Amino acid sequence: MPIDGNDDQFLALMGLGAKSGKKSHYPELKRRLSELERMRDLLDQARDAIFLLSLPEEIVEYQNEAALGLLGLVRTPEKRLLQECLKTSQGASLSLFSLFPSLSSEEQRKIVPLLTRNGTRRFEASFQAAVEGGRTSGILILRDQEERIAIQEQLAASLKAVEEARMKTVRLTAAMVEMKDSYTGKNQRQSARLAHEIGLRLELPKPGIDDLVIAALLHDVGMMGVPTEILCIPGPLRPVDRRLMQEHAAIGRDILAREGFPESISLAVLHHHERMDGSGYPDGLKGEAIPLFARIVGVADVVEAMLSHRPYRPAHSREEVLRELEEHRGTLYDSRTAEICISLLMEGFSVAEDAGSSD
Ligand SMILES: [Fe+2]
Repeated sequence: MPIDGNDDQFLALMGLGAKSGKKSHYPELKRRLSELERMRDLLDQARDAIFLLSLPEEIVEYQNEAALGLLGLVRTPEKRLLQECLKTSQGASLSLFSLFPSLSSEEQRKIVPLLTRNGTRRFEASFQAAVEGGRTSGILILRDQEERIAIQEQLAASLKAVEEARMKTVRLTAAMVEMKDSYTGKNQRQSARLAHEIGLRLELPKPGIDDLVIAALLHDVGMMGVPTEILCIPGPLRPVDRRLMQEHAAIGRDILAREGFPESISLAVLHHHERMDGSGYPDGLKGEAIPLFARIVGVADVVEAMLSHRPYRPAHSREEVLRELEEHRGTLYDSRTAEICISLLMEGFSVAEDAGSSD
């Protein structure tokens, strides 16, 4: 579409003066008009809706073909306000100010639903203002993002469904462990509460905390492979029974790995009885060679077990647990995790899932 005499504003908005009356400037003006025509052609070929605006009145000085097509507008000989072009999903007029209250020269972006001739669609609106020669102008670009956002929402819904199915599996598995041994089942749930708090205080990312909680919820899942007679032995175990009991760590890892759980979870289960000085099992790992989740679950497991009653012994007092953590942090227990547990217990945190502030 050629540039014509009605395009003074367009020329000004593109940073060029209107037509010059001086003949000596004619070749230069002709060249720049030709450039402008090419630029306008380019703008008209763009798939995004583009508006060039006079501000603060929000007068549309130019809109490209995509703006007309996407928003179902009819080209008019007279200029109009932007709010005559933009409609909310309810059909109400939408001003630029309501989208971008500040006329910043920095590019601003937001997602905005707009009524189009194909119904309401979500656009990414980007806006940038400029002041030149005492006049303020702006460019508003609308990119149709409906398909992309819809796909993202479908993906998010699918991921949520998968995550819910995974958590159902976790809870079902934990319940099966509890059916075999109620103390182990309760220990897993309450350890998971504590591990969750530790994860929050370590400022782990949300997905990491989720995996940590799953690891804690299932850390003794391998007990399913330990003979019930051994689980029922009160008090100290004979060496042969102890070895069988210790097998639960590797059995648990194998179950979770076979079911496709992430390695961070299956390794936490495998190593939750390792100790910082290498005195634990199954591999006698030391220090940071023990995966972080295993160190956390290991401490949460000990704290929960000490605070809980067993048929062969009463629950330890909070003071006894604090002493255990103080004495062995860094040697048996991960220092940072032990410190967090000490803080939590001093603050009155209770591992009991049905409790208030005391055990
Ligand atoms: Fe265990």
